[in-house]
Amino acid sequence: MSTEPRNHYDPDEVIRSTEGKGDAFSEVISHRMSRRDVLRTGFSAGLLMLGGASIAKMVSTSSQSPTGLNFTPISSHTGDSILVSKGYGVQTVVRWGDPMNPNCPEFNQTTQTAEQQAHSFGYNSDFVGFLPLPFGSKNSTHGLLAVNFEYVNPEMMFPIKEAKDLTEEQVQICTEAVGFGVIEIKKVGAEWQTIVDSQFNTRWTANSKMRVAGPAAGSDRMKTATHPAGDHCTGTMSNCSAGKTPWGTVLSGEENFQDLFANGATLMDAKEKRSAKRYGLPDGDSEYRWEQHQSRFNLALHPNEANTFGWVVEIDPYDPTWMPAKRTSLGRIRHEAATTHVTKDGRVVMYSGDDARFEYVYKFVCTRAYNSTDRKANRDILDEGILYVAKFNDDGSGVWLPLVHGHGPLTAENGFDNQADVVIDVRIAADLLGATKMDRPEDIEVNPVNEKVYIVCTNNVDRGKDGKSGPDKSNPRSDNKHGHIVEVIEAGNDHAATTFAWELFLVCGDPADPETYYAGFPKSQVSKISCPDNICFDAKGNLWIATDGQTKALKLHDGFFAVPTEGPERGKLQQFMAAVPGAEVCGPEFTPDGKTVFLAIQHPGEGSTYDKPSTSWPDKKGIPRPSVIAITKDDGGIIGS
Ligand code: FEO
Ligand code: CA
Ligand code: CA
Ligand code: CA
Repeated sequence: MSTEPRNHYDPDEVIRSTEGKGDAFSEVISHRMSRRDVLRTGFSAGLLMLGGASIAKMVSTSSQSPTGLNFTPISSHTGDSILVSKGYGVQTVVRWGDPMNPNCPEFNQTTQTAEQQAHSFGYNSDFVGFLPLPFGSKNSTHGLLAVNFEYVNPEMMFPIKEAKDLTEEQVQICTEAVGFGVIEIKKVGAEWQTIVDSQFNTRWTANSKMRVAGPAAGSDRMKTATHPAGDHCTGTMSNCSAGKTPWGTVLSGEENFQDLFANGATLMDAKEKRSAKRYGLPDGDSEYRWEQHQSRFNLALHPNEANTFGWVVEIDPYDPTWMPAKRTSLGRIRHEAATTHVTKDGRVVMYSGDDARFEYVYKFVCTRAYNSTDRKANRDILDEGILYVAKFNDDGSGVWLPLVHGHGPLTAENGFDNQADVVIDVRIAADLLGATKMDRPEDIEVNPVNEKVYIVCTNNVDRGKDGKSGPDKSNPRSDNKHGHIVEVIEAGNDHAATTFAWELFLVCGDPADPETYYAGFPKSQVSKISCPDNICFDAKGNLWIATDGQTKALKLHDGFFAVPTEGPERGKLQQFMAAVPGAEVCGPEFTPDGKTVFLAIQHPGEGSTYDKPSTSWPDKKGIPRPSVIAITKDDGGIIGS
């Protein structure tokens, strides 16, 4: 297959599907249009039928866009400072190593200790949530920043060449630098400030005790030396993105946990062997090499330890005394995030992507309705419900397949003795159900205005390679370097539905590349974009996209972009901001008034070293420090206006 020509999104050419059908791209779009009409979502299909020139004319006759997006797009950027649209300002709110406790000394790269790191802001901020104070308010100038610390770059943190050179103390620092943090912040005048002595400031790290909740709690497979009952575990790690619940907690996704563990080849139990293979646990050394100094990362000594990772962890930023819970009902995958939406009948639905090549998209529907007046009544609501995995049909329809023990092939015959086995090995369960292999599903969010679900597939250069799955309609490119975004309409706009319709919203890349697609908008008027990762929406339902991988894919810094999802400007993607060398852009999070957007600048300088960093951002000298920034408009207006 690798010798075949690549397919193009050209109406005259054909998209190959795994079933070998292959509609022309124009047919794919027209299928989607007719389905949208049937669903009566109120979208004016006719506008797209006008064709590019007519749309462009309509857009140019309006000086103030009805989308609320009137910012001047930036051009591509390769400099050593944050670039943002004209009329906006950037400030650094909090950096790796900044104290979160008044007794903690200021950061000094040459005198780091584990004790100090445990009370300081962590490394490689990814998810950023703003939770207003008090809970339930829409306060946009005072609140809690809830942040994931995904992983460490030891070669940037310490004067060492690679992970295997880490000392015992440095490993201890690393374990305190990852996980989760909550820090109180307040806007004083134009400036966001951290409140170092806040009672809310908390760090949850690789060493914090957590509760195991849901179907895997107490399972033999969760029992470890430290927690022999299998109802607790130690630490949260690989926390990538996350989502806020309607009751004010955060669901943090544990993503690349396979990098933490060593010696998968020593696992003897047949179930654990099968699981280790499917989840990519290494046979020998781990990527992080922490096992050299901490035996819990050595599967030869602690065979169940890896089963306690890969979960969604619920954390309550408003209550630092509440022990975080691993919600095993939501399945064990490389969770990019976990985002929620309340259905019309008051139930909570969670969406989550398994960020690896050819992995799946999941949804969980709670059994019980959410209580909007008593937040504590929702404490364990996520423990009961049904987990589903998505199958995208080539005709633009889709099905949510239930991952329930005893249902279909999920039986003892296939190695599933109970629901604990289903959630621990949910990838294997999803394989058996025939779910659709996607191009690295990252963030998934429901648009609060049109209620469609946006699924970000960041890239997959293995698509179409020898021995790997070829393109299908929902993952339409071989060698997908740039990623795409799929738009889903749940049947009847009910997010608990078990069927859906879908279409492609963006097929990313350089707009000059005929393979790209911007929801039909004229490509002469859009920005380049590659490797979409984290998303959020503004109050008007415009999609905002942060990227991870443009450095490689487009030779440009990663950035932050906005694109309308409805109306004549649907698909008009424009770049708002660009980051610094080596960094990806995460977060993103608006305050409720839309006047501040927080972004995490993750792994600045990645690819260089402690001794020769490619940037010192955000400081003037020294090693770079992953940080959370705030962007505001100079006139105090809404971001993007
Ligand atoms: Fe940690 Fe899927 O990015
Ligand atoms: Ca991500
Ligand atoms: Ca998001
Ligand atoms: Ca990513």
